[in-house]
Amino acid sequence: MKIRQLRETDIDEVARIMSSTELWQRYGVDFKSARKRFERGLKEKAHIFVAEIEGEIAGFLWYVPRGAFDRSGYIELIGVKDTYRGRGIGRALMEFVEKEFNPDDIFLLVSDFNKEAQKFYEKLGFVKIGEIKDYVVKGITEFIYHKKRSKR
Ligand SMILES: CC(C)(COP(=O)(O)OP(=O)(O)OC[C@H]1O[C@@H](n2cnc3c(N)ncnc32)[C@H](O)[C@@H]1OP(=O)(O)O)[C@@H](O)C(=O)NCCC(=O)NCCS
Repeated sequence: MKIRQLRETDIDEVARIMSSTELWQRYGVDFKSARKRFERGLKEKAHIFVAEIEGEIAGFLWYVPRGAFDRSGYIELIGVKDTYRGRGIGRALMEFVEKEFNPDDIFLLVSDFNKEAQKFYEKLGFVKIGEIKDYVVKGITEFIYHKKRSKR
């Protein structure tokens, strides 16, 4: 597996992964809006990485340095293609940005109903520290997760 920066030619595939994921469908994301979001990210030189396996995009991670409170790292998006889940790709992407940016803290939001992702983040050392009701979509509570990193 290779982790590298998102390229223009990857946009259709990451948008396909995002728009075919039930989670994001509940947030009203479709192929067109996902594509637009990644195009904007690329244009703005956002830190978007993909995991590539034998030429195929298996997952992506969008990281914002100082994206939380202009101080701590923020995971804006992470997604692994359904056929590649449970193989360590999500972990590899998260460990990649931790190593690359070496932040003191990382924050992220996860939907109340997304128990799988909550278990994933807890496995990686994140702790639920709060929640925001009706934040992105009415009826969905966003859990705030935080990881304090001990630097070596
Ligand atoms: C959440 C997601 C990114 C995890 O990626 P993944 O590649 O499947 O996860 P990994 O295989 O790297 O798992 C890493 C660890 O988390 C654990 N984990 C992952 N999914 C889990 C689940 N559903 N239940 C319990 N543990 C889980 C694994 O057991 C693994 O533990 P280990 O490394 O100690 O063996 C992926 O399932 C996904 O894309 N989900 C849909 C989109 C989504 O929910 N994104 C997050 C939005 S906030």
